[in-house]
Amino acid sequence: MKQQVVFTHQFEQSLSEAIAKCSPDKVFVLADDNTACACYNRMKGFESLKSAHLITIPSSDSNKNLASLTHVWTTLQAEKASRRSLLINLGGGMVTDLGGFAAATFKRGINFINVPTTLLAMVDAGVGGKTGINFGGLKNEIGVFCPSKSVIIDTMWLQTLDHENLLSGYAEMLKHALIAENGALATLLTFDTDAFDLQQLAEMLKESVEIKEKIVEQDPHEKHIRKALNFGHTFGHSFEAWAMKRKPILHGYAVAYGIVCELYLSVIKQGFPTETMRKTVNFIKANYGELAISCNDYDALIDLMKHDKKNVNNTINFTLLQDLGKVSINQTATEDEMKEALDFLREG
Ligand code: GLY
Repeated sequence: MKQQVVFTHQFEQSLSEAIAKCSPDKVFVLADDNTACACYNRMKGFESLKSAHLITIPSSDSNKNLASLTHVWTTLQAEKASRRSLLINLGGGMVTDLGGFAAATFKRGINFINVPTTLLAMVDAGVGGKTGINFGGLKNEIGVFCPSKSVIIDTMWLQTLDHENLLSGYAEMLKHALIAENGALATLLTFDTDAFDLQQLAEMLKESVEIKEKIVEQDPHEKHIRKALNFGHTFGHSFEAWAMKRKPILHGYAVAYGIVCELYLSVIKQGFPTETMRKTVNFIKANYGELAISCNDYDALIDLMKHDKKNVNNTINFTLLQDLGKVSINQTATEDEMKEALDFLREG
């Protein structure tokens, strides 16, 4: 089933149209502590939500767990949700992932609509049908592929998002531009990230989401070309996990550093153009700063990559690029090459 992605500046109308398409008997809104105040308060007077029931879970990725999921299922059951009920997920990727999974599994599946409120969720997590929770210390360990009925994207929610969270989502836009051949990268690398003009961003965001949609349509279950979306994420996930035990970093920052390492591997192993790598790396270094790793951390980082769930036959799996839009999936690298890539991240 193709997911409907709606870009709008008339949020109330777009949401009410999306709700009407589902003909629900009951409407539930899932929010976290933050979006329940900052976002749901702006919506609760909507006619289409007049009988909606709000379910709130604690914010942050550490709560994307079984306890929060149980709370959603329990509330749906207590409020007599049926197979015809609708869940609207209002928040960042934590809410859209967990809410999507709760909806996909409650009574074997009820409709859900994603309303992403962070740039990261608009460009990535809220689109493409990946749902799930963290489990047993591993991120997104339990989940299913299940597209929402609609994704409603309105950049008004970004007005109050802090600079770091905007940059975090922007890293996934950089990734989309690198794996696509459509010329988006040049625009992204000249965007004024100090001003973050939301109108200009909205246009770039639409293009970026379309890149992801086209890939997901071809391969919704990540058997082949959807792996293109993992570019930057093999190193990226290891940085995120490594930082988690020290000073956590936002997902998009980890991805930005991962892009630097995987562009380096793309140059030495796939002939990716050095000039394009250099411009992208300069942009990342200027905007995302440095990751505080030393060569003493290399073995731990490589060890984390060895446990990545994308690996095949216990071999660390990379998505690399021959050029913009020319993706090579299922690539490998030696430990020496990975260490060179980490040297490159540290020293450029
Ligand atoms: N976040 C990558 C994907 O949705 O496949």
